[in-house]
Amino acid sequence: MAPERTAAPILVASNRGPVTYSVRPDGGLDAKRGGGGLVSGLSAIGPDAGALWVCAALGDGDREAVRRGVTEPGVRMLDIDADVHADAYQGIANSVLWFVHHMLYQTPLEPVFDQEFRRQWAAYERYNRAFAEALADGAAPGAAVLVQDYHLALVPGMLRELRDDLRIGHFSHTPWAPVDYFRMLPDDIAEQLLRGMLGADRLGFLTRRWADTFTACCDAVVGGLGGARVGVHGLGADADFLRERAHRDDVAERTAALRRQIGGTGERRTIVRVDRTELSKNIVRGLRAYELLLDEHPEWHERVVHLAFAYPSRQDLAVYRDYTAEVARVADSVNSRFSTPGWTPVILHVEDDFARSLAAYRLADVALVNPIRDGMNLVAKEIPVVSDAGCALVLSREAGAHEELGADALTVNPYDVVSTAAALHEALTMPHEERAARTERLAAAATALPPERWFLDQVRELKR
Ligand code: G6P
Repeated sequence: MAPERTAAPILVASNRGPVTYSVRPDGGLDAKRGGGGLVSGLSAIGPDAGALWVCAALGDGDREAVRRGVTEPGVRMLDIDADVHADAYQGIANSVLWFVHHMLYQTPLEPVFDQEFRRQWAAYERYNRAFAEALADGAAPGAAVLVQDYHLALVPGMLRELRDDLRIGHFSHTPWAPVDYFRMLPDDIAEQLLRGMLGADRLGFLTRRWADTFTACCDAVVGGLGGARVGVHGLGADADFLRERAHRDDVAERTAALRRQIGGTGERRTIVRVDRTELSKNIVRGLRAYELLLDEHPEWHERVVHLAFAYPSRQDLAVYRDYTAEVARVADSVNSRFSTPGWTPVILHVEDDFARSLAAYRLADVALVNPIRDGMNLVAKEIPVVSDAGCALVLSREAGAHEELGADALTVNPYDVVSTAAALHEALTMPHEERAARTERLAAAATALPPERWFLDQVRELKR
């Protein structure tokens, strides 16, 4: 007999869940809590709310946990066939939909929508259906269901067919492609995607800009929103959590270690960036801009260090592995051009370490956030909250965060390495008082909508 489940009044669905498991050498399972705004937002509503989070089993540890029936309260992991998941997640979600919304295709070779794409699309449908069925199974009558991101674009429509009593929301954490770019997708697929999303009562986006491009795509491809509502919820940084976490001992240790790596006698400035090693984050152009700064302003030699933290991401995809190697190669070449016995101009860290990221945030004089395109970019919001002495923010106009932070940032066109180098110089030379005043305003804007409120606002709007 199937175990009895209580029906949940609030459900969240996402590919990556709030917890992930690994198998220890002794065969036991270790659970690691996931980070990120959504996790803190949902945890904030508390276990008594009876919420259910449906996510995919992502690796062997997760699959083993499902097999053994190990679960965290309020989390249901779906053990979707590994090949189906790979085609849906790596093939469609990360190699097609992510590329479309971040405008990452490089003509003349990409994109090609061939039979292989159609085969993967069928897997994407199966994977979305598995989520829709699990949600239909776990939802109380009239429950609110919050579906997350491009991985699960078909879920709202599928779920609506199974359960028309539910309130269904969908939230996009990415940018949304402009009409002409979106229409690179085969016509029937573009239509199916939008109709799938429009099965929701409400579609959420991080900025007005992405909500508008989505609406324009619906107008062009399916003749409008068909009664669905569109809303904007600009996820902010969690100030209380960050400030407390950034003052723990492990962060103090990392700060001391970074200071030793930076060297000098405390007078060296720092330019900090922290990203997943992600094509859209534009890390290589950032390093090129820094190289140009050192070329054009020899006065900064020995006086500035670039802390570049680039954490491996999506390494199953060749294009990400190549990009990761390119980042390391360019960082090395800058160092081999400019290093002196007591000075390493670029310190590249690739091992994911949240405490060390916070240490770098605290030390930042300048934050460099230069994505080609980004749904929001929480790093741009976190650094001003945590930085000790105030930091100047060099920010791409293509990051969603620019809508809220642009007034006090130094804005750059992410493709323009010359102007990015000039902005880095301006940031380094900004008078201390101005930097501190701007940082204070940036931190206030960055924390205007903390994760808990971001989440609860959406539930409230959905029930309206
Ligand atoms: C973006 C997406 C998330 C995704 C995250 C990490 O922020 O909006 O849905 O989880 O990147 O990517 P990954 O492929 O590792 O889950």
